[in-house]
Amino acid sequence: MTHYVGVLTAGGDSPGLNAAIRAVGKAAAETFGMHVIGFRDGFRGLMENRYVHLGDAALSGILTVGGTILGTSRDKPDMMPVGGQLMDMTDAMVENYHRHHLDALVCLGGGGTMKSALLLKKKGINVLALPKTIDNDVAMTDVTFGFDTALGIATEAIDRLHSTAHSHHRIIIVELMGHNTGWLALGAGVAGGADVILIPEIPYHADRVAEAITVRSRIGKRFSIVAVAEGAMPVETAAVAAEARAELKNNGDKKKNKKAKARAVACLTEIQELQWQHTTQLAHRLEEATGLEARVTILGHVQRGGTPSAADRLLATRLGTACAELIHQGVSGVMVAVRGDGTEAVPLEEVAGKRKVVPPGHPWVISARHVGTCLGE
Ligand code: F6P
Repeated sequence: MTHYVGVLTAGGDSPGLNAAIRAVGKAAAETFGMHVIGFRDGFRGLMENRYVHLGDAALSGILTVGGTILGTSRDKPDMMPVGGQLMDMTDAMVENYHRHHLDALVCLGGGGTMKSALLLKKKGINVLALPKTIDNDVAMTDVTFGFDTALGIATEAIDRLHSTAHSHHRIIIVELMGHNTGWLALGAGVAGGADVILIPEIPYHADRVAEAITVRSRIGKRFSIVAVAEGAMPVETAAVAAEARAELKNNGDKKKNKKAKARAVACLTEIQELQWQHTTQLAHRLEEATGLEARVTILGHVQRGGTPSAADRLLATRLGTACAELIHQGVSGVMVAVRGDGTEAVPLEEVAGKRKVVPPGHPWVISARHVGTCLGE
């Protein structure tokens, strides 16, 4: 029988993390009589053996609290910044896992954390992972916790931007998070009635966006709300990025490829660096093309902050308690995924390194088109 469990939170914080820590901790202790500790600041805390006991006192009153009581970091086990260098510190983590006589380690995180969890699994640690991120981009799960809260915040922001855009007859471009996927921008855009929604999965034609706004203006709608995912790109940039990515995958002649691959990496880095100003550039293009005034709102980390929604608290509690049950059954090496009303244990190998993007025929995409939203196509 399992007695000792470690928990850590890694990657960007997400509403519902504390609800999940509480669920794992309470179910593990109260239902199954296990002892639970939490490592601070993600994999770094596991490496440095910084931990706290997650007894009843630590787990009380945290259900509604945003962020993570354990702290988090983006440090990866095999590329840990140590003394100015990136080092593989997985062995130190394995050592600390055994130092505490742990029977299981629960990692709460997004796509990057799934890869790290798999690394530790390969080193013999009994890992279980729970999918959290406001981006909703973890593969093999219906949804991630944190997404619903961010969706609510982003939708409310779009609602609020409507009245000021309307009053000033302006275009307001609102940039939403989501990393390289468009779940958040698409969901909030549809829910908030944005007139234009731009997502990474559908590279956009700026002239078609301008045309849609001009048509609105002609029929008396002199304002427009444009919801843009932070990873959205115009077709021209997306084509260059796709070419560079294909070059990186090319397995041909190694010598010839070395230079081409270095060029591809440099190209992708440059695109990434320029991406932070793409909404401002789009605003200038739209002002020129439509004659309307444009403003940019970057919603940023507001989308990740504060108390989780009821749906996220419920989801995190479902996943956390299911995780404790799996530990009790001796299951490990899995991510606890959401499947409809239930949960499912998915081997980490099937999740790590994959990303859930918005499929072209997703119902939200189709609905957006049906209500006349411009997707920049
Ligand atoms: O993965 C969550 C997320 O909020 C992304 O949407 C965003 O691209 C990224 O994290 C921002 O990261 P950071 O908080 O490290 O700047």
